Amino acid sequence: MKKVLIINGPNLNLLGLREKDIYGDLTLDEINEKLKLWGKEHQYELDFFQANGEGEIIDRIHSAAKDRIDYIVINPGAYTHYSYAIRDAIIGVNIPSIEVHLSNVHSREEFRSKSVIAPICIGQITGFGHYSYLMALNYLHLRERG
Ligand code: DQA
Repeated sequence: MKKVLIINGPNLNLLGLREKDIYGDLTLDEINEKLKLWGKEHQYELDFFQANGEGEIIDRIHSAAKDRIDYIVINPGAYTHYSYAIRDAIIGVNIPSIEVHLSNVHSREEFRSKSVIAPICIGQITGFGHYSYLMALNYLHLRERG
């Protein structure tokens, strides 16, 4: 069974409370429950990780190689826009990754339209609320089926 690591970065633990008009009503646990259902239906092993600190996220990316993770789906939160360290970690482990966002980062403040991580990912999915995560998983499934 293929393994996918879902990483959520800073402030995403506040989903359900935080700027609901932008990020929606669902908590991160509720989103993860939906992804778990998808995993069961499509027979993928999903591993979930959330941290507010850059170092913790980098350490989890490093251990993903040891855990034989096949793909990473990452919402790096605000680190998206400036974390060369997370970018280098993903390059370092050489695990194909997809960047996802709940909001459309291209329709908000100017600083959000730049991602330093997306260019080293397979692609970026942005603006579809929690469906962004499901779209990333569906893409990986299609890719696996060839
Ligand atoms: C976000 C977009 C980022 O700009 C922001 O800092 C977040 C959430 C999103 O999912 O829409 O924390 O990654």
